[in-house]
Amino acid sequence: PRTAAVIPAAGRGVRLGPGAPKALRMLSGIPMLVHAARALAASRAVHLVVVVAPPDGAAEVKSLLDAHALPERADVLVVPGGETRQESVKLGLDVVPPDIGIVLVHDAARPLVPVETVDAVIDAVRDGAPAVVPALPLADTVKEIGPCAPGEPEPVVATPDRARLRAVQTPQGFARAVLVRAHETVAVSGEGATDDAGMVERLGAPVVLVPGHEEAFKVTRPLDLVLAEAVLARRRA
Ligand code: CTP
Ligand code: MG
Repeated sequence: PRTAAVIPAAGRGVRLGPGAPKALRMLSGIPMLVHAARALAASRAVHLVVVVAPPDGAAEVKSLLDAHALPERADVLVVPGGETRQESVKLGLDVVPPDIGIVLVHDAARPLVPVETVDAVIDAVRDGAPAVVPALPLADTVKEIGPCAPGEPEPVVATPDRARLRAVQTPQGFARAVLVRAHETVAVSGEGATDDAGMVERLGAPVVLVPGHEEAFKVTRPLDLVLAEAVLARRRA
């Protein structure tokens, strides 16, 4: 089946601090969303890239993508995004043409994902998994906290066994019909979700993990920009 990558890039990047929308910030002179689009289009299996732009930035994103060419075999669409990541993904999904059977959803904020990770996700969907997520073991132990008054120290209520936890990344890959159904169902229920696979889980469909990659980390806070530049410098060396 043909494969499309939807790249939500419509967030403001509040945690990165003041400046342009996160996906338009430069890494080694190239906008973050261009790195992300190239990383997905680097897979020979990706036929279409849909970039979901900041609501008032679709024209700018289109011209950035025209200026930084992707491989010829990948078509590019740009649509304006929404208030939440979930809405932005839905707006991207809405323009995926009917001949596409597999949809990847990839954060523009993960600009350095290696093509091997992209291909591993696509391969697992092709092999029959309806939903596939790249994931890594955690370095930190995680605590669950209980309710707490403002200004008080947070009380710990549980420490989940770290060996059974995974931190998830993108691209997450889906049989198109499953992802469309998940988005329709969640839109009706009014519930939010922080990742697409979480919505598929609520449908009761199986979600499986494949190995993620260190370089698929999400650029969230200022220190992540330092790390991203260092990874790019190492690749050039
Ligand atoms: N995203 C989006 N539309 C939104 C919010 C987020 O397309 N309304 C995208 C972001 O552009 C990013 C991805 O979802 O590529 C992951 O979100 P996150 O890392 O939280 O980015 P931001 O929401 O931009 O950052 P912050 O939460 O710090 O504002
Ligand atoms: Mg956000």
